[in-house]
Amino acid sequence: MAKDGSITGVEVSFGQDEIIVSKTDLKGTITYANRLFLDIAGYTEAEVIGQPHSLIRHPHMPRCIFQLLWETISRGEEIFAYVVNRCKNGDHYWVYAHVTPSFDSAGSIIGYHSNRRLPEQAIIRDSIAPLYEKLRAAEENHSNRKEGMHAASAMLTSVLAEQGIEYDEFVMTLGQGRRRGYRTAQENEIRRVEAA
Ligand SMILES: Cc1cc2nc3c(=O)[nH]c(=O)nc-3n(C[C@H](O)[C@H](O)[C@H](O)COP(=O)(O)O)c2cc1C
Repeated sequence: MAKDGSITGVEVSFGQDEIIVSKTDLKGTITYANRLFLDIAGYTEAEVIGQPHSLIRHPHMPRCIFQLLWETISRGEEIFAYVVNRCKNGDHYWVYAHVTPSFDSAGSIIGYHSNRRLPEQAIIRDSIAPLYEKLRAAEENHSNRKEGMHAASAMLTSVLAEQGIEYDEFVMTLGQGRRRGYRTAQENEIRRVEAA
């Protein structure tokens, strides 16, 4: 196993109707992984349970995306995000993840849950990979990790501001959400104006 985070550049994939599932505690330690998670990442259950979820972190993922993920779920909200993950042997696979907090009956967050589906290839190729490449370059431009992440977050914010949308909305409008009937704030506004 390549513990050093080395990568092969080989992309692996899964079925359109399949879902890769994992659950974590409040700190992001894996508490559950389904069969597909283990099969695609190339780990046994014993190798992942109790490990930090960053076990499958791919070095090409911008840190600012995970920062946004954690900010969102720790305040009790869900997030949709495109993520590239690293298999144990250094191969990689792209997912479209829906990460949600789990609550107890008193409304406190007790853990997190991620369901991942196969993303559309064209969305990764045309929108996400180029964006993440820019964010990662911004992060790597700084010797200080925190400063780099702030620079990349600022870049992400400005890219989104140019489009007048939030990250989640940006992700949704790329295709998947739209097919499920999701509308952007702008489209809702147009509908409101038309209805008035
Ligand atoms: C439910 C859940 C699922 C996650 N899934 C992934 C994942 O598939 N890949 C990944 O790299 N990080 C995932 N993360 C984020 C990791 O916890 C971690 O923040 C990330 O790998 C970056 O590592 P770092 O925080 O050590 O920099 C997940 C977190 C949660 C709470």
